[in-house]
Amino acid sequence: MSRILEIKLTPGERKQINGLIDWAVNEFQYEDENSFYSSVRSISYDLPKRLKLIFHEFKHLENYNAIIVRNNLAEEILETPQDYREFHHVNFYKSDVLQALYAGLVGDVFSFRFQRDGHMYNSIIPLKKFEKIKKHSSGSKYDFDFHTEDAFHQFRPDYLSLYCHRNDEKVPTTISCIETANLNSKYASLLFEPLYFIEGNAQHEVSADFYTKQPILFGDIRSPYIKVNLNALNISNYQKNTQDALKYLISMLKQNSTDVMLETGDCIFIDNLRTVHRRRKFIPIYGSNARWLTRVIVTNDLRKSVDYRVSSQSKIIELTPILKHL
Ligand SMILES: [Fe+2]
Repeated sequence: MSRILEIKLTPGERKQINGLIDWAVNEFQYEDENSFYSSVRSISYDLPKRLKLIFHEFKHLENYNAIIVRNNLAEEILETPQDYREFHHVNFYKSDVLQALYAGLVGDVFSFRFQRDGHMYNSIIPLKKFEKIKKHSSGSKYDFDFHTEDAFHQFRPDYLSLYCHRNDEKVPTTISCIETANLNSKYASLLFEPLYFIEGNAQHEVSADFYTKQPILFGDIRSPYIKVNLNALNISNYQKNTQDALKYLISMLKQNSTDVMLETGDCIFIDNLRTVHRRRKFIPIYGSNARWLTRVIVTNDLRKSVDYRVSSQSKIIELTPILKHL
């Protein structure tokens, strides 16, 4: 079963956090997302000690699939934007500061150029123009099935964070994981083989030749990490033995799934190497009260991708390596 830790802030912790947010808003000058995030990141260590310990254990002990900080009260409730806000304004919300502060306890926020042109803060809102598109986070008519965030990419995030501005439609975020205790060794061995095309979703603007065959499980076979995208997995393309392994994996993910209801002010961090997530189909409330999450992705080690970034300061991973050598 997926393990989720819910954290309820004490009044003192909430006051301390909101003090940090106000300070960041008033003291820092931001030119863009990169400078905004870098500045906020530098004060993560001033968060309450209890939170720092919880995030530290989440990262180093890998003892939870996800942690949720409930009811942060970081800001007044805003109207849901009518399109992706990242393309239309350069202001930051208090919740953006909050998410950056928490993210700083486990790693660094980053982005991919092929996804929303490298914007670090991505709105997840239902959009009419995408409602019938499968494999799309802004769709609604179809299930957005279990996947690891950016599963196909070598620099896939270690953590996925979602801040909930509004979820009046009461759509749960479902998470699941591999059950390590009774893992079938025959199927696990097959899933460790580089036999599977792991493809992206509609938001990933990459060409088909970007996708290669990869293992779905990796790391320690006794307690493996996972990278998978069921939205883009066609089981009928595989031979009988690999089909059986995939069916085993899918049934395990269904069995271990847990619904998490995010509400206004909640901020979740999902361990993206141990956990998959999905959103079922739903009937959206379009407009200013539509479901609205802000998504950021976090890496444990930004340096490993330096060849793919225009400079060591940039947080955007480009499609191909940048030649910086003489
Ligand atoms: Fe996702």
